[in-house]
Amino acid sequence: MVTPEQHSDVIQAVSSSPLTGSRLRQFAMERLDALPDYDWSGIYRLEGNDLLLDAFVGADTDHVRIPVGVGVCGTAVAQDANQLIEDVRELANYLACSVSTRSEIVVLIRKNGEILGQIDIDSHRVGAFDDSDESLLEQLAELLAQRWRDQD
Ligand code: SME
Repeated sequence: MVTPEQHSDVIQAVSSSPLTGSRLRQFAMERLDALPDYDWSGIYRLEGNDLLLDAFVGADTDHVRIPVGVGVCGTAVAQDANQLIEDVRELANYLACSVSTRSEIVVLIRKNGEILGQIDIDSHRVGAFDDSDESLLEQLAELLAQRWRDQD
């Protein structure tokens, strides 16, 4: 859950940043990491049939390349739909980033209808995310899409 104030702080910081591409994505993930319950904040970039780990803040993960259809991340692309998971322990198709993760949200980044990638957030708390997080991440995804480049 994010408050309206936290929402506008993140959007304001990212929209007023002069950065572009992966530097802007890293900056945005640092802002998200400062929010309560955002224990791992990252971006995956879609390249062909794989999601590649791009900018992130949090523990290193083995999941640097995820095929479309696999895990929560790959399911978002396969279904062309954001994913909001209350408790990852109830999922069969799940790739564990950390044994402490309990809930997860994935929001797609699109430009002109094409999927560029996604924002993926993990929390150590069950049910940490709701519509307020989805709304923030959707607005952030739009800002990142507007200044998208594969690199900097
Ligand atoms: N949990 C994700 C994998 C990415 S890590 O959380 C960083 C999934 O199931 O696709």
